[in-house]
Amino acid sequence: MSQNSAKRLRFYDMQPEVNTLYDDVINGLSQPQKQIPPKYFYDERGSALFDAICDTPEYYPTRTEMAIIENNLAAICDRLGHDCVLIEPGSGSSQKVRLLLDRLEPHTYMPLDISSDYLKSVAHGLAQEYPEINVTAACVDYTDPLELPHSTGDLRRIAFFPGSSIGNFEPQEAVTFLGNMADLVRPNGGLLIGVDLKKDPAILNAAYNDQQGITAQFNLNLLAHINRELNADFDLDCFTHRAFYNELLGRIEMHLVSTIKQQVDIAEHCFEFDCNETIHTENSYKYTVTEFQALAHEVGLEPIEVWQDEAGLFSIQYYQLNSSISERASD
Ligand code: AVJ
Repeated sequence: MSQNSAKRLRFYDMQPEVNTLYDDVINGLSQPQKQIPPKYFYDERGSALFDAICDTPEYYPTRTEMAIIENNLAAICDRLGHDCVLIEPGSGSSQKVRLLLDRLEPHTYMPLDISSDYLKSVAHGLAQEYPEINVTAACVDYTDPLELPHSTGDLRRIAFFPGSSIGNFEPQEAVTFLGNMADLVRPNGGLLIGVDLKKDPAILNAAYNDQQGITAQFNLNLLAHINRELNADFDLDCFTHRAFYNELLGRIEMHLVSTIKQQVDIAEHCFEFDCNETIHTENSYKYTVTEFQALAHEVGLEPIEVWQDEAGLFSIQYYQLNSSISERASD
């Protein structure tokens, strides 16, 4: 990295559509199996509760993933290559990427997030903390096909998608997302992605049913969020948390169970709940390494290396476009 060069902070607001809570909730609760998308967990309290989940003894993914990155930092950085553009869709607080930034010293770090104000403040902080790295932040909805607001020239682009957030997608949606990532890093880039692995269901069930009940609060907070934003009247005492591993589909399912027969008003709509009827609030798919590689293969991403913890709970996987594997030999 050149010395004393003035590094730049740029911010682009692509103004993604964000006012879809109402439509998503009304539409989701009108389905035979009522459902609400998990992205609405993350209001201020929801984000704090998620951080608290990550600190519970049962929720292994976050700490396991961080340990895998720390324990394999040199190898991971060798794969990514210095002087790349590191792009992180859904960067949030950019906590995990810090593990990489010191050692990797990418040319540019590009956090992408839907929350404009939060992104702006995180980007400012990062630019100060890492004066050697350009920071180009963009406010976008990363579930849409992405076009970078800013040319990155010939620099290699690497997409970084930690946390097993990919588990929230249906497998076919995951393929679409992986295809978007492949397009983003074409022609010679790569993808570094955290994927939670299939394992003893007892471990999975415990991780989503922590003893302190924080996951339950996280799940129920969704209703508080909707009450506040949509002028709804969910009674949080009349719903309970349920999470279980669906072995057939390879996913954790989270639901909110109505403990009585009741009606809930949301704006001008009224929804009926039978006793024990549920709202499906989240899927968290788990994969074997081979299963996930098969999804990536569908969009031309070829496995280069996989790092895991000793117990095989979690994986960090690195992919490259198959067209770039031969090209890489010459750079
Ligand atoms: C943020 C989607 C990776 O699926 O494990 C944690 C969310 N839900 N506990 C996950 C979550 C309940 C988490 N992801």
